[in-house]
Amino acid sequence: MKTLKTKVAIIGSGPAGLILGQLLHNQGIDNVVIDNKSQDYILGRIRAGVLEQSTVDIIRELGISERMEREGLVHNGFTMIWGDDYQRQRIPFTELTGGKVMMVYGQTELTKDLLAARNACDALSFYDAEDVTPHDFYSESPRVSFTHQGEAYQLECDYIAGCDGFHGVSRQSVPEQEMTVYENAYPFGWLGVLADVPPVSDEVVYQHHQDGYVLCSMRSSTRSRYYLQVSLDEKLEDWSVDRFWTELKRRLPDDLAEKVVTGPALEMSIAPLRSFVCEPIRFGNLFLLGDAAHIVPPTGAKGLNLAASDAKQLSDGLLQFYNQGHSEGLDQYSSKALERIWKAERFSWWMTSLFHKLDDSAFRQKMQLSEIHYLAHSKAGQTTIAENFVGLD
Ligand code: FAD
Ligand code: DHB
Repeated sequence: MKTLKTKVAIIGSGPAGLILGQLLHNQGIDNVVIDNKSQDYILGRIRAGVLEQSTVDIIRELGISERMEREGLVHNGFTMIWGDDYQRQRIPFTELTGGKVMMVYGQTELTKDLLAARNACDALSFYDAEDVTPHDFYSESPRVSFTHQGEAYQLECDYIAGCDGFHGVSRQSVPEQEMTVYENAYPFGWLGVLADVPPVSDEVVYQHHQDGYVLCSMRSSTRSRYYLQVSLDEKLEDWSVDRFWTELKRRLPDDLAEKVVTGPALEMSIAPLRSFVCEPIRFGNLFLLGDAAHIVPPTGAKGLNLAASDAKQLSDGLLQFYNQGHSEGLDQYSSKALERIWKAERFSWWMTSLFHKLDDSAFRQKMQLSEIHYLAHSKAGQTTIAENFVGLD
């Protein structure tokens, strides 16, 4: 058994773990990242695409924004479409929020930049680790055990950061009676296609359609990302990419349908939608970050951005502790992060409830259309959407 020591053991090498690791490393705070998958596997995951201003600022602070500045697409608005007559309204979020922008830059690309920075510095990381387990986090000497390339390791540390996503081991290691879980499952999912075809619009489009929500997004001027609301009973194997393009064009208004360029799918998947929060998100010397602590449905594009904000907040608390010797930031991590998390949970739940086909009730659909119409034509309504979309301070 090999014993190692570090200040912060980070379980999980997604955006939350890598951002936290790099923020700490840049300030000279020793940390070790442990993931149970390989770097290639991690880079193959296709997920988020839209970064809030605050996430962009964190990437800049990390000094790894060069490719994002060059290849990312700065967005100042998005379009909402609704109703049988395909009404539409652009929400000029930059104008409505005193200049805040969104950056379209794929999570895959961001992860590539974060991994490159981690690999280029002398910080220790373990990939393809097995049996990763946090221990003794209610004591002053927490540790993480794992096996790597057949060798057993004990990593002794001051703090453990659980950044291992919704299905990870960190949250599951906490005794059930120590947390309260708030959860809402939705009876539908998102069927997503990534394809090397020019996007139908140069800004993101959210469409309410009587047969289910449509989202037109992108990764670049030559790579599109589309999503269709589907029932949870749908099986991926029943969806050819041709069937996807036909259904997408059927739901979109004619002028956009005509602009859809079809092509082979680089990736096609069905993601279930879920709202989930566990409270608190600190257990002794174990902190939970990102999807390990909370999940939002993707309508509103908040998940990755929340993970980045958690990492920034915990890193600030740890810097305060190691550099100034007081633990105020760490003590407030859970309550302060949860305030922000619940606001994003509310917005994501609300946007999901507003734009998706919830059931067969014609009345509920009328209520949705009326609410969208009201929001679209009210400056206050537009501002509410805009300030939540770009991210609340
Ligand atoms: P993850 O990315 O899940 O990383 C967790 C890491 O922990 C992984 O590398 C995993 O291998 C590792 N791990 C898991 N278990 C263990 C273990 N037992 N031991 C060690 N390591 C472990 N968010 C946005 O902000 N904007 C968007 O536009 C957006 N769009 C989305 C679209 C879709 C279709 C989906 C599915 C999600 C979207 N999200 C979006 C959400 C976003 O992708 C997630 O919120 C984000 O990945 C969370 O990052 P994380 O680091 O917390 O977790
Ligand atoms: C994506 C874009 C969004 O606006 C959103 O809410 C979810 C996902 C995307 O590009 O993947």
